[in-house]
Amino acid sequence: MKLTSEATAVRADSQRKKFRRRDPLPDLSRFLTTEQHRIHLVGVAGSGMSGLAGLLIELGHAVSGSDKGSTTETERLQRLGLRFHEQHLAEHADAADLVVFSSAIKDDNPILLTARGCGKPLFRRAEAVAAIMQAKRGIVIAGMHGKTTTSAMTAHVLREGGLHPSHYVGAEIPILGTNAYWNQRGEYFVAEGDESDGTLRCFHPEHAVILNIEEEHLDFYPDLAAIEKVFAQLIDQTSGSVLYNVDDPNTARLCSKHKRAVSYGFSEQADYRGADVELRNFGSSFLVVRRGEKLGQATLNVPGEHNVHNALGVIALASELSIPFDKITASLRKFEHARRRFEIKYASDRFLLVDDYAHHPTEIRATLRAAKSIGRRRLVTMFQPHRFSRTKALCREFGSAFDDADLVMVTDVYPASEPPIPGITGRTIVDEIVRHAHHGVTYQPHLQSVHRDVGNMLEAGDLVLSLGAGNIHEQLEILAADLVIAEKLKTIVGKEGEVRLYEPLSNHTTLRVGGPAQFWVEPRTEQGFSKLIRFCHDEHLPLFVIGRGSNLLVRDGGIRGVVVHPRRGDFEKIAVDGCEITAGAGVKLRQVAYAARAANLGGLEWMEGIPGTVGGGLRMNAGAIGAQTFENVTRIRYLDAEGNSHVKNRNELEVFYRRFPLLEKNFAVSATFCGQPAERGEIDARLRESQEKRRTTQPVAKSAGCIFKNPATIPAGKLVDELGLKNSRVGNARVSRVHGNFIVNDGDATAAEVLELIDDIKSVARKKRGIELETEVEIVGEPE
Ligand code: EPU
Repeated sequence: MKLTSEATAVRADSQRKKFRRRDPLPDLSRFLTTEQHRIHLVGVAGSGMSGLAGLLIELGHAVSGSDKGSTTETERLQRLGLRFHEQHLAEHADAADLVVFSSAIKDDNPILLTARGCGKPLFRRAEAVAAIMQAKRGIVIAGMHGKTTTSAMTAHVLREGGLHPSHYVGAEIPILGTNAYWNQRGEYFVAEGDESDGTLRCFHPEHAVILNIEEEHLDFYPDLAAIEKVFAQLIDQTSGSVLYNVDDPNTARLCSKHKRAVSYGFSEQADYRGADVELRNFGSSFLVVRRGEKLGQATLNVPGEHNVHNALGVIALASELSIPFDKITASLRKFEHARRRFEIKYASDRFLLVDDYAHHPTEIRATLRAAKSIGRRRLVTMFQPHRFSRTKALCREFGSAFDDADLVMVTDVYPASEPPIPGITGRTIVDEIVRHAHHGVTYQPHLQSVHRDVGNMLEAGDLVLSLGAGNIHEQLEILAADLVIAEKLKTIVGKEGEVRLYEPLSNHTTLRVGGPAQFWVEPRTEQGFSKLIRFCHDEHLPLFVIGRGSNLLVRDGGIRGVVVHPRRGDFEKIAVDGCEITAGAGVKLRQVAYAARAANLGGLEWMEGIPGTVGGGLRMNAGAIGAQTFENVTRIRYLDAEGNSHVKNRNELEVFYRRFPLLEKNFAVSATFCGQPAERGEIDARLRESQEKRRTTQPVAKSAGCIFKNPATIPAGKLVDELGLKNSRVGNARVSRVHGNFIVNDGDATAAEVLELIDDIKSVARKKRGIELETEVEIVGEPE
């Protein structure tokens, strides 16, 4: 069969004009719905194209497709028979009788070029969908906002009403099974019409539902008039009823003239009118009145007034198709959302995480209004603008779209298929929101960091919303998965304990560098700590303990798993009994020195000069002025890798210079130190000596203490000094001028800079003196 056709798209660029064909639809419809062929889809992974692939497979064609990368959709389709190619190579379509391409595909795509060159029939996605629709009684749902939800709702209500419809919608719809379905039995075909590229003109449906018309897709249309022209043609080509939203002036103006126009909405003159709308958590109920006659009450389990509106369109259509009102309302009550349409990703009393596809200011306003009506304490929004052209054209409107959100984090633009527009970024929208006097907006240009920044600011009672048509939902999904674990950790440490997500470790290290801790946990009791260890052990979650973070270098990618900070409660208890001082792991060594002074105990003064905690001091057998921790320890209490507690006396412990192996796999709870009775004056003199030593030999700056262990032959500081490396730097990391064994952070130094400086020093020491320096500072975490 020969296909001669004319692409019905109105795109004005000359490239596209070359491929115009004459009147394709009657033949194409037969070709696609009554015959079997080999068909290749270019850009098959897209949401619309994957639906078309599904339909064509069900219609019995041998379908192949190409795209830049695979998705769960292409994997599903492969299981149904799609031959998928992960790049666009001309030869993949050699055997095809026909090629269909997505609007996102550029004109220089090799498959398009070759198909064109050899005169192979080439159609746009909408042409193919419209041709398939020709074989049935078509229903097109069109409008700027709410199409996917409304088409899914329509297909669902028609299906429940026993009409066995086929459907084609733009997203995965759990309640419908798939985004597209060909039902041999039924007469109707429900399709979401895409207005973004002018291809709405391809459709000649029996019925149309027109939701709203406003300025959008200004990358394609010069103005609103051009958009209206496309809608007017669709309306003109609709042979049966045009169901239209009477509350939208543009829609009402265009549709009311149709010979079978049926209006719906909230205004008095609507043929199908919604009244007494009551919005509640995730849903609504409202009265439906048809031309003055009360049809009854309807209930929705999808949130927001905008969905009441969408449902009125569906009710109007289904009633015109003679589905009884009771059946319509029963199926509406069961309707669940399409993917990415107010999709709940996590819900508990403390947090609610919702993802929504809203990317136009009108949609954002509606979604935020629906979210606010749920009545959580704060509304925290992460937004990814979609397309540079939309960001530019509607930036003013975006500025006022976030009024209902308490906090807004904006990331960079998801380009879709567009090249960047100079000066247009996520910041363009942030500036507009700020200009609109919103005080809670921040810009995070790195998408990958959005879940971290938002996660770290979470407070119980927050509703977190991801908004956008790109891939921002992945950030919410990561957050939701981590929140599940964080909430379990919270139950373990109880009300008094604290759990935070993605806590920046630069706030908890004395060097002030380091990426985030995936889970930051502060237990307050030994029992809580023990349960926490057991949980991490059972769940194979890595666990790392951090005290004052004074001898620690955390890499810029942070620490994966649980970072425990034993603080307050049991861990800050300090008790003196005779010559013994027992102190929790979270007590600062300096506090031990002063508690000893208060009890007139000497020998612990050196602890004054160590910036760590008891836990940290034990872990590395810290020392100063020739003394080291274990010289004063009588016994320690610790938890093993399964959370069981043990007490060990000094003589049972194996200890080395700056190393205590037992705590490499176990966790300190407390230590008992032994002092000797001494004169207060004597103690004070030694404390002063330590202070003086620190003051005169060590830098007052952000540092991690001594970086290297002292080699046997020479103190590391002296060596670095002799090598002339003092004051050398990498970025903002610098060797201290005061002491050669200190690296100081001059500003926003990164861990990578500190590590590079360490390597530089090591290699000079090796080359010039044959000394292999070993780091004393503990280096942990992942590179960025
Ligand atoms: N020195 C130099 N140039 C320098 C630094 C030091 O010539 O730039 C000389 C000093 O004059 C001294 C010798 O090197 O003769 C040792 O220096 P220092 O007395 O400062 O002691 P250290 O061995 O460098 C140790 C601990 C410090 C602790 C001090 C306090 C180690 C690796 N470091 O430093 O601990 O504060 O003693 O006496 O054992 C830490 O562990 O993080 C830490 C800072």
